[in-house]
Parts: sequence; C-alpha cells; structure tokens
Amino acid sequence: MLIKIKGPGEVTESEVTSQDLYLDRRRFLRLGAGSLLTAAALSNEIWQPALAGNKLAHVIKGPYTVDEPLTPYESVTTYNNFYEFGTDKEDPSRLAASLKARPWKVIIDGEVARPGSYDIDDLIKPHTLQERVYRLRCVEAWSMVIPWVGVPLADLLKRFTPNSRAKFVRFETLYDPKQFPGQRRSVLDWPYIEGLRIDEAMHPLTLMAVGLYGEVLPNQNGAPLRLVVPWKYGFKSIKSIVRITLTEQMPVNTWARSAPDEYGFYANVNPQVDHPRWSQAKERRIGDYFKRETLMFNGYGAEVAPLYSGMNLRKSF
Ligand code: MTE
Repeated sequence: MLIKIKGPGEVTESEVTSQDLYLDRRRFLRLGAGSLLTAAALSNEIWQPALAGNKLAHVIKGPYTVDEPLTPYESVTTYNNFYEFGTDKEDPSRLAASLKARPWKVIIDGEVARPGSYDIDDLIKPHTLQERVYRLRCVEAWSMVIPWVGVPLADLLKRFTPNSRAKFVRFETLYDPKQFPGQRRSVLDWPYIEGLRIDEAMHPLTLMAVGLYGEVLPNQNGAPLRLVVPWKYGFKSIKSIVRITLTEQMPVNTWARSAPDEYGFYANVNPQVDHPRWSQAKERRIGDYFKRETLMFNGYGAEVAPLYSGMNLRKSF
C-alpha cells in the first residue's frame, strides 16, 4: 500500500491526533474490531504496544534511579534537540508525526558473530523492560530528569557475541529526508552518527530506551530506539537508531566531524572543561529559576570514573 507522506509544512496541529482521541480509538479497536486480529498479532501488541503514547506493559523498576523531581512530561516531549526535524526546540514535537516508527529494522553488524537485520520488536522482546530515572545534561547547559524505559545495551549486544576486535560501537540514525524534513538541509552531515568505546557501551548504566514515563517513546524523543548515556552530554544519546556496528576503529561522531574543536568523541560531562564558547560549570534544570552546579560525570562518577583512569580528560574531551 502506498501512503502519501506529508511534507512538514502540510502538517497542521489539528491533524495531529490528541492522546485522548488516540486512546479512544485504541479502546474502540480492542472492543469492536479486536476479534479481527489474530491471536499472534494481539499478544504481540500486548507485550510491546508499538505507538507513541501507548502504555508499556511489564516494566520493572531498574537500578541506578536518581531520587530527584522529574522534569514534567510536557517539557520532556516539547523541548527537544532532534536536528532531523529542525534546529528549534519546538520543531521536533511540531513535526515528528512524519516519522513512522513501525515497522522498523535495526542492522547489527561489524565485529559480531551473528550480524543481521532485526525487527525492533524481535530485538527488544527477549528483554525485561526497566524504568530508570536518569539525569540528562545537554551540552547547551540545560538539564532534565527523565524516567526512561529500556534495556541495558550490554544485554542486547551480548546476544550477538562481539569478538575480540570489537573495540567501539558505532550508532547510526535513519536517513530519510521524507520523514525527517531537517535532513533536506545540510545543517549536519547526515545521517547522525555516534559512538562509544566498548567498555562504555557495556557499562550497566548505558541504556537503549524504547519509552519514557511508562509509555512508548514519542517520535520527538527518538522513537523507536535511542541510546541513553547519562554521564555524557546529551548529544551522545543518539535517536531513531537503524544501525549498530561493532568496530575496531574509533568512529567519527557527527558533532566531532562538524566542529572538532568544540565537540569530542568522549563528551563526558565535565564542569572543569569549558566549551570554547561557554562555561560548563553550571546548568539550568528545565523548570528551575536558579542555575545549579554541574557535577563531574553528571553525578555518575562513582560508577564510571574508573573507565577513564589515567586519561587526560582535557585532551580526550
Ligand atoms: N539524535 C539525533 N539523531 N539527532 C539529534 O539532533 N540531538 C542530541 C541527542 N540525540 C540529536 C540526537 C542532543 S544535542 C540532545 S541534548 C538529546 O538528543 C536530546 O534528547 P531529548 O530531546 O529527548 O531531550
């Protein structure tokens, strides 16, 4: 079936289904048309509802949760950085309806024993979903506290058996200017690429998120699959991932390619190393009036500082 995908200018706010209306439609489907669904499709839907706003079932409380007031859902989903939709904070929530998060394939390749292209649901299904409340500190000196839902990246990668040459992990966002209007402009070198060292990727804090606030990830937050690395600046947390490649060489990440003097590969939150154009010593928690001190490794030093022992973090920024 061919579906005409609307351009960004063609989508008006009134066309975007409100959450209430959307949930009513789901209820109607369950009551009325539900009998038309096969048992397999139904059970699949119950374990992993595919659309933004659906409640995720069987989520357990995960470790490493911070006990700090949550940033309201409204701010988490309307104040975003997702340049594939535009460079303004409101662009992603305004335009994100053009992204189709299902069906969705993720390629896992490179230095692994079992490379392949996997459906997102098959990728996530064997894992128990965990809710973890993490701080997110953006390089632009604002921060949020977000209840993510996801699975540890290490658990996912281990299933594909990385070999001894796997020293880094490279992540790639979908490239499709029809779905991502921002990709029609060369603001960045598309597709968006990020990378981690293998020990960072395997660290138990590193999460592959499929949801937030107990619901399927909204498109503007990186549906259907995004990385969350809470001790690094937010730009490492790449959204809408279609490819995960285990590599021997350090990948060149998008921001380091576009401005190597300003953004490095490591991007560990570090209040002592300023960005060339602004200080990183303080940050504004979204919703707060006063700024607060930025914490080394975003407050996750006890867990991650040993990963960098002996390294000069001014040089490896
Ligand atoms: N991933 C992609 N593909 N494109 C982007 O522009 N922006 C990054 C990161 N991941 C970005 C991305 C930046 S700069 C930040 S701060 C976080 O996403 C923001 O995540 P949030 O909008 O869910 O808060």
